[in-house]
Amino acid sequence: MIKFPEGFYWGAAASAYQVEGNNKNSDWWEWEKKSGKEPSGDACGHYQLYKEDFALARELNHNAHRLSIEWARIEPQEGKFCLDEITHYKEVIASLRQCNIEPVVTLHHFTNPVWFAGSGGWKNPAAADLFLRYVEKIVGALAEEVHFWVTINEPMVYAYHAYILGAWPPQERSYLQAKKVITNLISAHVKAYRAIHDIYKRRNLKPPAVSIAKNIQAFAPSVPTLRNRVAVYLRQRSFNFAFVNSLMRHKSLDFIGINYYTRGLVNVESWLIQVLLFDESKAKESGLKKNSLGWDIYPEGLYKLLLKFRRYRLPVFILENGICTPDDNLRWEFISAHLKSLYLAMQKGVRVMGYLYWSLLDNFEWDKGFAPRFGLIEVDYNNYRRRVRESARKFCEVCRTGTIDI
Ligand code: BGC
Repeated sequence: MIKFPEGFYWGAAASAYQVEGNNKNSDWWEWEKKSGKEPSGDACGHYQLYKEDFALARELNHNAHRLSIEWARIEPQEGKFCLDEITHYKEVIASLRQCNIEPVVTLHHFTNPVWFAGSGGWKNPAAADLFLRYVEKIVGALAEEVHFWVTINEPMVYAYHAYILGAWPPQERSYLQAKKVITNLISAHVKAYRAIHDIYKRRNLKPPAVSIAKNIQAFAPSVPTLRNRVAVYLRQRSFNFAFVNSLMRHKSLDFIGINYYTRGLVNVESWLIQVLLFDESKAKESGLKKNSLGWDIYPEGLYKLLLKFRRYRLPVFILENGICTPDDNLRWEFISAHLKSLYLAMQKGVRVMGYLYWSLLDNFEWDKGFAPRFGLIEVDYNNYRRRVRESARKFCEVCRTGTIDI
C-alpha cells in the first residue's frame, strides 16, 4: 500500500468549451460549422448542470476541480464585458466552494473569442495585451474565491495543432507563424502572472498560486538510430522544457502544472530541422496497451519526466492525466499505474501538490468529437444523464484515504 501526504489535492479536470455547450462566440464554434467536424452543440450541458456535476464530484471525495473560463462568454465583443456571464462563473466557483472543492481555474483552454481570432488571434502583436484586459476583468471578479490560476493550457500543443499541423483553427501550417504565437503566449502568461499577483497584493489577499498547464511527453526513439536520438533530444528540449525555461527566466511560475498522457515514439526520415522537431512519426508498433485514440499507455514516462522537473525546484501539480477507453478496467489500470509512478517520483524528491484526472465527465474531444470517452462519469448524450463508472468509485477510495493498494 502507498500513502500520499495529508492535504494532497485529488480530483478531476475539465474545460469550458468541452463540457458547457453553446459557446457561440468562440472561434471553435465558427470553425466547426466550416470544417464539417462533429459540432460541440450542447456538449455535456454542464453550463446548466454544473451543480449536479459538482455534487457528484463531492460524492466521489474530490477536494479539487479544474475548470476553465470561456473568454468569449466574458468578452463576446472586443472591450465589452458581459456581467451576466461573470456572475455565472462566480456562481460556479461558489458552488464548488459549497462542496468543499478547491477550484483550479484556467483562463485560456484552446478557444478564443471570434473577434480576437478575427484580429489575427495569437499572431497579433497586441494579443498579450488583449488577453490581459480579460484576465484583469475576470480575476478581479473572482480573486476572493480562487487561489490556483492556470493562465494558459498547453501552449505548445495549441501552437502545434493550430499553426504547424493545421488541424485546429485557424489551420495554418507555418513554423514562422507558430514561433510568433509561442512568443505571444509567453508574453501573455508573464503579463497575466504579474497582473494576477498585483490584484491580490492590492486587496491584501494571500498571494495566489499561478502557473500554466504544461503538456509533457516521454519521447523515445522508435528505432535507436542516431537521427532518431537527435530528434528525441530536440523534441524533449523544445516541447517539454523550452516554454517552462522562458517562464522561469521571467520568474513567473509559482508551481508547475503538468498534463501527462503518453509517450511519443520518434522515427524521422530526414535530417531537416523541421522534420527532426515536428514531423509526425511513422513509428514501429510499440507493443504497449493503448487508449482508444491509439496513444501508448506509458506510466513510467511520468516518473522519468518528473525527475527531470526537479531542476526547477518548484512544486508540481498534475493538472491532467487520463485515458479515453471503452474498457473501464483499463481506465482503473491506467490511473493506478500513473499514481504509482507519481508516488515513486515523490519518493525521489519531487514535490507534488495534487493529482487531477482528465476528465470528470465524458466530453467533446475537439476535432475528434464525442467518441473518445475520458470521463470518470459517463454521459449519455441523448438525455445528458450521468452514470458514475466503476473506476470513479475506485478512485473515490484513493481520494478518501490518500492511499492505494499496489
Ligand atoms: C487537453 C484537453 C484534451 C485532453 C485529451 C489535453 O491535451 O488539455 O483539452 O481533451 O488532452 O486529449
